[in-house]
Amino acid sequence: MKILLSGYCGHMGKEVRELIRAGCRGAELAGGVDVAADSAGDAVPCVTSFRAAMDVPACREADCIIDFSHHSCTQDLLTFAVEMGMPAVLATTGHTEEEKAAIRKAAGRVPVFFSANMSCGIALLVELAKKTAQTFPEAEIEIVEVHHDRKLDAPSGTARMLVEAIREVRPEAYPVMGRSGQAKRTPEEIGVHSLRIGNVVGEHEVIVATQTQTITLKHQAHSRALFAEGALAAAEFLLRQGPGLYTMADMVKL
Ligand SMILES: NC(=O)c1ccc[n+]([C@@H]2O[C@H](COP(=O)([O-])OP(=O)(O)OC[C@H]3O[C@@H](n4cnc5c(N)ncnc54)[C@H](O)[C@@H]3O)[C@@H](O)[C@H]2O)c1
Repeated sequence: MKILLSGYCGHMGKEVRELIRAGCRGAELAGGVDVAADSAGDAVPCVTSFRAAMDVPACREADCIIDFSHHSCTQDLLTFAVEMGMPAVLATTGHTEEEKAAIRKAAGRVPVFFSANMSCGIALLVELAKKTAQTFPEAEIEIVEVHHDRKLDAPSGTARMLVEAIREVRPEAYPVMGRSGQAKRTPEEIGVHSLRIGNVVGEHEVIVATQTQTITLKHQAHSRALFAEGALAAAEFLLRQGPGLYTMADMVKL
């Protein structure tokens, strides 16, 4: 599968290129799009916009776009994808409502994968947490997340996502951020605990316990490369799909 990489010169673009170079999923690099294209200096063509990519055969002949750039280029990217009939993995974040509407519209014409978290492992953790909460309706649930000491927000976006996913199968549940004092926990509580320490990339643990057993689901991120890995997995997945809007949940469905 030949990849047209948008955000070619950025941090995530570099991670995707390194994985492709290492032979991940048999992917090849067809070309790149990046406003900073001049500094690329690589073997494949890298242009500054999707409009320019229209004139480059290698870009036109790619099998799939992977986008880790900036949401402001989404409209041009989608126009290119629809015109070429090319699937697109959109991993960029921060889209406006107008851009999201354009994404939904383009997904009526070509396969589009859109996810703010490209980690297959986290997507699986979310599905497993939901399944476990559903299987053990009486169980108590706690979430522990650990991140490096530079992270400002707590709890993490992923911990919040886990709470929301559990609430889909247990609408009465509610999060309690940290715990101290004398009160007994209620059955509906989901305790969420944030640790900020050292250089930890990111860990999320969902603990589900009844009076007779405990199930612990844990994901540990080792590097940002996992998002690039997820994007390549999503590209491979898209090549087997028809037009439509897909997310990580579709890819890891239990
Ligand atoms: N979905 C996920 O799991 C996930 C994971 C990591 C990062 N991201 C998102 O991916 C995006 C890129 O992250 P990054 O850390 O690589 O950022 P970065 O700033 O290092 O790289 C962005 C690249 O996009 C290029 N760019 C900016 N505007 C452009 C435009 N209009 N057209 C073409 N190229 C343009 C820049 O020149 C730069 O090379 C961000 O939106 C980030 O939030 C998503």
